[in-house]
Amino acid sequence: MTAGAAPAPLLMPRLRLRPFAGPDFAALRRIDGDPEVLRYRSRPEITPAATLAFLVQADHDALKPAADRRQWAFAGVRQADDALLVQIGLTRARDGADEAFLWYSTRRDAWGKGYAAEAAAAVLVFGFEALGLRRLFAECHPDNRASLRVMQKIGLLPEAHTPAEDARWPERAGFLRCALSRDQWAARAR
Ligand SMILES: CC(C)(COP(=O)(O)OP(=O)(O)OC[C@H]1O[C@@H](n2cnc3c(N)ncnc32)[C@H](O)[C@@H]1OP(=O)(O)O)[C@@H](O)C(=O)NCCC(=O)NCCS
Repeated sequence: MTAGAAPAPLLMPRLRLRPFAGPDFAALRRIDGDPEVLRYRSRPEITPAATLAFLVQADHDALKPAADRRQWAFAGVRQADDALLVQIGLTRARDGADEAFLWYSTRRDAWGKGYAAEAAAAVLVFGFEALGLRRLFAECHPDNRASLRVMQKIGLLPEAHTPAEDARWPERAGFLRCALSRDQWAARAR
């Protein structure tokens, strides 16, 4: 991808993935502020201030050249009416790393309709093709069957339980990790 270029919106059958913008605050709070959405996550609460900080950071990130960027956040909106249904993104494992963590949440009234898998499949392609990442992974609490199923549906392979000594995410100890390398992904496409 050209340094500094904003990614074009990604189009899927029902959703469009676009960058977040300030006016998304209220819609994003429907996801961030929902205790059920946070049930299996490593954070017990996302405050309105944290949602605002996320939007400011997303705006800031969008101005950076791809090589300097740590995170890509996408608003997964319904094509028909621009309603925000999925919050999804990629975060590099470390600055400059060629592997990234895939994360996603769906607005609760839209659960079980395939939106997270649809968005995650598109972000996977974006990560490998546009960003040239070598490996993508995702993690979830072992009881989070819906998230595990999303990983399965997009072809991630079970890898490990996150080790307790993983200091960057100590609260994720025992989470299940699934991953896919670009080579594995490309081999499937052949
Ligand atoms: C995980 C999450 C993003 C899934 O979103 P979604 O849009 O409902 O996902 P999809 O519809 O694409 O797929 C969900 C799958 O899980 C299945 N599922 C849901 N609850 C399940 C359960 N308790 N046990 C087993 N499977 C379950 C659904 O049937 C569906 O599979 P299917 O298409 O084979 O029927 C959503 O539940 C969510 O936002 N959870 C809270 C945030 C979160 O946990 N994010 C992941 C962080 S690791």
